[in-house]
Amino acid sequence: MTDSAAEQPVLTVLQITDVHLRRQPGGSLLGVDTDASVSAVLDQALARQVPDAVLVTGDVAHDSHPEVYQRFWKLLTDRFQGPALVLAGNHDVTRRMGSLAERRELHLPGWVVLAMDSHEDDQPGGSVDAAEFASLQNACKKFRDCHVLLATHHPPIEVGCPWLDKDRITNGAELLEWLSEHSTARAMVFGHAHQVVESSYRDIILLGTPSTCIQFAPGTQSFSVDDQKPGYRWLYLDHEGGVTTSVERVDDYPLTVDMSQFQQELTN
Ligand SMILES: [Fe+2]
Repeated sequence: MTDSAAEQPVLTVLQITDVHLRRQPGGSLLGVDTDASVSAVLDQALARQVPDAVLVTGDVAHDSHPEVYQRFWKLLTDRFQGPALVLAGNHDVTRRMGSLAERRELHLPGWVVLAMDSHEDDQPGGSVDAAEFASLQNACKKFRDCHVLLATHHPPIEVGCPWLDKDRITNGAELLEWLSEHSTARAMVFGHAHQVVESSYRDIILLGTPSTCIQFAPGTQSFSVDDQKPGYRWLYLDHEGGVTTSVERVDDYPLTVDMSQFQQELTN
């Protein structure tokens, strides 16, 4: 590292994901009040550090209505006024997100964060269509003097749960191969799996992050919720393109999962 590089501060980015806000404030998902759990996540995280940016990697809403996105934006901006990038997940409907989904890139010193839209309205599965892939390729070429952090909703790889893996990004392997060959992508963060995922494809670090509400049990064959607490991820981006990361949970959050709501809650 050169002297000037050593003087560059490490950037701090907070990732939250899979917020699943209901239409009514205080509504619950499997018995968990998702307004309260995301509030607890943001309160704990932002009391510990003020990040340079916040990434929200989809499933902002469980019931997609414009007022839900407005409520989420107030929850976030009451606590953090810096740059934020918000992506759509499979429970979101882009046209109902208003200006929230318009931002596609976020610039930080030496880095650019690119949104990669893997969702299709009203479909659970992930894919990056030809137009999105072309736009990603253009952005990667345009920002080749920067380190790139990619943010998306669906995992681009299998996470070890067949019931989730069927909905991973269908062309994830092709995307990762292109990125590893032709871009300065250093890491890709995603949600959807509601659990910690830490993997890599060649030199690209692949990171999945716990939900701000309920968690899915790793290594399971069919839908399974576990009792892990709401969580979030810190990303530390250095001037040389290095990425270090940690996941934290709200350990004292009073989580009580009510599986009797399962049939009515997770029908889509
Ligand atoms: Fe989700």
